[in-house]
Amino acid sequence: MQKIGILTGGGDCPGLNPVIRAVVARAAKEGWEVIGFKDGWKGIIENKTMPLDRKSTREIIDKGGTILGTSRTNPYKKEGAVKKIVETFKANNLTALIAVGGEDTLGVANKLVKEEKLNVVGVPKTIDNDLNSTDYTFGFDTAVNVAMECIDRLKTTSESHHRVMVVEIMGRHAGWITLTAGVAGGADVILIPEVPINIDEVCAILKKRHEEGKLFGIVAVAEGAKVSGKDVTQEVELDQFGHVRLGGIGERLAKVIEEKTGYETRYVVLGHIQRGGHPTAFDRMLGSRFGVKAVELVIKKEFGKMVSLQGAEIVAVSLEAAVKELKTVPPALFEVAKIVSES
Ligand code: F6P
Repeated sequence: MQKIGILTGGGDCPGLNPVIRAVVARAAKEGWEVIGFKDGWKGIIENKTMPLDRKSTREIIDKGGTILGTSRTNPYKKEGAVKKIVETFKANNLTALIAVGGEDTLGVANKLVKEEKLNVVGVPKTIDNDLNSTDYTFGFDTAVNVAMECIDRLKTTSESHHRVMVVEIMGRHAGWITLTAGVAGGADVILIPEVPINIDEVCAILKKRHEEGKLFGIVAVAEGAKVSGKDVTQEVELDQFGHVRLGGIGERLAKVIEEKTGYETRYVVLGHIQRGGHPTAFDRMLGSRFGVKAVELVIKKEFGKMVSLQGAEIVAVSLEAAVKELKTVPPALFEVAKIVSES
């Protein structure tokens, strides 16, 4: 019998369980077996598995997170780990591995295909939506809707107290969540990593609003937005993929806005709330379509590929191209956001 392995790596996000469920369902149609590796690349290095079948994946479509667990383990940063992955592959007699993750997890998948000739197919996941070669990653829609609802809620309290509220939103290198939730939530100012912050411009917009009679304001800022060209980071070690832990821009901005405008300004960090809880219908559907397509690529022996949403279609693209560079917010879209938020 043919056997497919599956792992989920990197930051979790809503929609991972629908992918796992769909992979199992599509494989079952062929009479194929599926095993899950626990905690991302760590599980395949250590050969920690869990059997997956229709019964164990039945009631998980609505569950956030991942039943397989995840980690930010990078096999290329651990002595002997790649060799272990190759051994686990053989020991489990795997036909192929489906790696579900973002740029880091899929970067490893791509290297394993190229350098170890392993049969790997990728599925793109991240709330940040910054993966190349796909219109959307699953997890993004849920995160946007959570952030939008938070902005809606913050508006009523800010309005009552005549305050400015700075809302710090996830997004390391790209401002997709901030821009989309900011526009949808009617934020007055939207600040993303792709465009340097001009603090005088921010204060001028808030003052103009005030003069027009709107005595509160919402500033949506991505955690990766830069102050004087630099990230605002927390004092912790880099993770195994070399990422700093971001956080703190909301607090810094709020302080400066209050000093420069004289308006009472508070900040809120939405943090992991954006990654938790039930996936939206869009993410459940996208995850299901990706899972089915991933198995179909394995059946057709199309390894080194990633499933992707292009327009309304799920297609296969090269993993290499997908991880080559990040997909950032294009200037024209940021311009739309500026028009509808700031004017
Ligand atoms: O997975 C993407 C992401 O949520 C980023 O938006 C954020 O910067 C990062 O992960 C946080 O990672 P962790 O949960 O490991 O601190």
